[in-house]
Amino acid sequence: MLLLIRKAAQLLSMSPAGAAAALTIIENGAVLVNDDRIEWIGRSDQIPPLSPDVQSIDASGQVVLPGFVDSHTHLLFAGSREDEFEQRLRGLTYQEIAARGGGINATVRRVRQASKQELKELARPRLDRLLSFGVTTVEVKSGYGLSLTDELKCLEVIVELNAEGPVELVPTFLGAHAIPPEFASDRSSYIRLLIDEMLPEIARSRLAEFCDVFCEKDVFSLKESESILKRARDLGFRLKLHADELSPLGGAELAARLGAVSADHLLCITDAGIEALASSGTVGTLLPGTAFFLGLPYAPARRLLDRGLTVALATDCNPGTCPTENFPLVGTMACTQMDMLPAEVLTAMTYNGARAVDRAERIGSLEVGKQADLIVCDVPDYRQLFYHFGINHVRQVIKRGRLVYQADAGTAAGIRGSAAG
Ligand code: NIG
Ligand code: FE
Repeated sequence: MLLLIRKAAQLLSMSPAGAAAALTIIENGAVLVNDDRIEWIGRSDQIPPLSPDVQSIDASGQVVLPGFVDSHTHLLFAGSREDEFEQRLRGLTYQEIAARGGGINATVRRVRQASKQELKELARPRLDRLLSFGVTTVEVKSGYGLSLTDELKCLEVIVELNAEGPVELVPTFLGAHAIPPEFASDRSSYIRLLIDEMLPEIARSRLAEFCDVFCEKDVFSLKESESILKRARDLGFRLKLHADELSPLGGAELAARLGAVSADHLLCITDAGIEALASSGTVGTLLPGTAFFLGLPYAPARRLLDRGLTVALATDCNPGTCPTENFPLVGTMACTQMDMLPAEVLTAMTYNGARAVDRAERIGSLEVGKQADLIVCDVPDYRQLFYHFGINHVRQVIKRGRLVYQADAGTAAGIRGSAAG
């Protein structure tokens, strides 16, 4: 089955040769999709001869680019935390709220009460919203169960939602997200449980590809994080780390030393941390929506980019520190708050996001032979994606060669129905 997208004002392949600031733009661009793969890419006046009835999308005046890869979310949760939002506006900090039993453990209470079915029903509209903003692949962490049964329950839901499609989910085990309340006075027992029971069982069940740890003052220390991640690595997980988010603990250095695929957040990264990531090739994943929502200083994106690091951007979509699915808005924050150029932001939301989930061989750029995940946006110049901010420019989303979202075709739920049918 062939699908032709033609006459794009700008077609952005985001292929790695087009380094960050030097974007390759094909004007009057076209892509030919065969089944779920990209078969040809070039200018619309050079399209190879095709039967006249080939299905085609006219992208005149629009920008076509790879589907976004949101490489860091906690979108599987129950309940909401607008009460904490107000408490922060009244002067409490995120850490003070957590110390009073709120924060992550507030969501843990809700997730433990929820059935798989309920969790799925809560997650679907979030995935639909992400899709409508152009996200075709999303990493989703567990970490609100914090018992073997509840973590397995969450990972099963993530894996089942991935099978449902159309959005592709990358499952990450984040059992080391917080010390659950029943272990509050015996943290070492929870860490033993993680290392001796949870990690081996989750490895056996093959429900997660990555293991992540929230390495943070009063959460998991550098030493604890290292023992958990080393065990995970031995069991075959690839590694991620919540590093230097709220305090400079040296998480970036640890991620680099263990060969983690990504080190995430990095609001408080030090010069030594930047050097470590630069020499290890670990992706630095920045989540400006979190700094924005918590009112904290942003990660030093410019210093990371100028040092030659691979920088990805992601939403961090979660009920505590960043409740949004608007990934392009996060891109605008990266421009205006972290001085990233629109081309660097797009690289960080596509190809580098794919690297952060270890899928750059298959997704993240438009190249012959790669999977046909792409979006059509109703702007004539890619910079307008971030310049005209806060609204949704995405008109069509194609996942694995199939049109799975069409703006104006009704609600996201309606589209899900027609895509499945
Ligand atoms: O990425 N840092 C830890 N985890 C999330 C917050 C999760 C929550 O507060 O529920 C984050 O910011
Ligand atoms: Fe996070």
